[in-house]
Amino acid sequence: MRNVLVTGGAGFIGSNFVQYFLGAHADVVLVNFDNLTYAGNLGNLAAIDADSRYRFVKGDICDRTAVDRAMQEHEIDTVVHFAAESHVDRSITGAAVFVTTNVVGTQVLLEAARAQGVERFLHVSTDEVYGSLGATGKFTELTSLHPNSPYAASKASSDLLVLAYHHTFGLPVVVTRCSNNYGPYQFPEKLIPLMIMNALQDKPLPVYGDGLNVRDWLHVVDHCRAINTVLRTGRVGEVYNIGGNNEWKNIDIVRALLKHLGKPESLIAFVKDRLGHDRRYAIDASKIARELGWAPSYTFERGLAETIDWYLANQPWAKKVMTGEYQEYYRKHYHEG
Ligand code: NAD
Ligand code: TYD
Repeated sequence: MRNVLVTGGAGFIGSNFVQYFLGAHADVVLVNFDNLTYAGNLGNLAAIDADSRYRFVKGDICDRTAVDRAMQEHEIDTVVHFAAESHVDRSITGAAVFVTTNVVGTQVLLEAARAQGVERFLHVSTDEVYGSLGATGKFTELTSLHPNSPYAASKASSDLLVLAYHHTFGLPVVVTRCSNNYGPYQFPEKLIPLMIMNALQDKPLPVYGDGLNVRDWLHVVDHCRAINTVLRTGRVGEVYNIGGNNEWKNIDIVRALLKHLGKPESLIAFVKDRLGHDRRYAIDASKIARELGWAPSYTFERGLAETIDWYLANQPWAKKVMTGEYQEYYRKHYHEG
């Protein structure tokens, strides 16, 4: 593992990973390959911009020529694949780009990685491929895939392609499936940063449906640590679930955020439910714990407090990414104005 290509390194998890990874490994070159969609922001990487081990290549994972060029020029031997369209609500109003980026883009990368002869290809996936749970139980790696949203279906398709490239061509892949992440640099279309930013502006906090949907939250740095662990020591061809045993009802998170910010609960607005809204996610992460010795390091209490403080301290960052396209998206999605 000398020359690592990270796709989607300008997004939320990718930019946290780039910073974490360069901090964890002294002797690597890291190439961030990202085409900077609305969700990609090089400002997330200002802290490591001048690091001589870091390179940025602006490119689309669907563009085989550009991917080949990046892999050859930088003699890539390892791929960590984050690049994706990642927001469920956007996949409901416009699924096509999810299929293009998440499915076709992943297949292009797999072919390029095969031609390059990489020694490891880590595919970053999600627990949403398993579908929705009832009141009890957790997703294990053996749970059958039952994706419900176009986003989840596109990620499940990409997972299957990755595993098929291992089975058919012997490509040395590993797949990780993580639960909901939170932390710094998350785009404010997702639950936690959206609610923080709205509360700071005394805008209504739009809770879908009855607010009783459950998500299993993990701090993004713990996700990055887990990816690093699987990359180095995971068994080829295997899937590893990642999660923090930390289930929360949406409404309870929203209340906790308001409390921390000293804002009134009267800001909560129950709005029309998301179409096909998955009720509950919960990850059984015992395989990665048992086989690779990974465990989360953050308590939710600490992680959430630090995240709120980060958004408070980084309002210029948030305001910058919330201009233009975001305003348009917000107006349309939440039927404002
Ligand atoms: P994000 O939307 O914040 O970032 C996605 C990044 O990919 C952006 O930098 C964007 O510019 C880039 N990108 C998009 N299309 C591209 C293309 N065609 N070519 C090159 N780059 C492209 O996403 P995120 O929340 O950081 O998620 C990263 C990965 O982790 C995704 O694969 C997602 O499915 C997975 N994941 C996310 C979560 C979560 O809670 N956010 C949980 C589990 C897994
Ligand atoms: P989100 O952050 O979009 O992640 P995902 O859908 O991938 O789990 O949403 C997390 C939960 O919060 C989900 O149950 C939907 C809900 N939600 C709201 O209630 N209101 C909102 O404005 C958003 C964006 C999400």
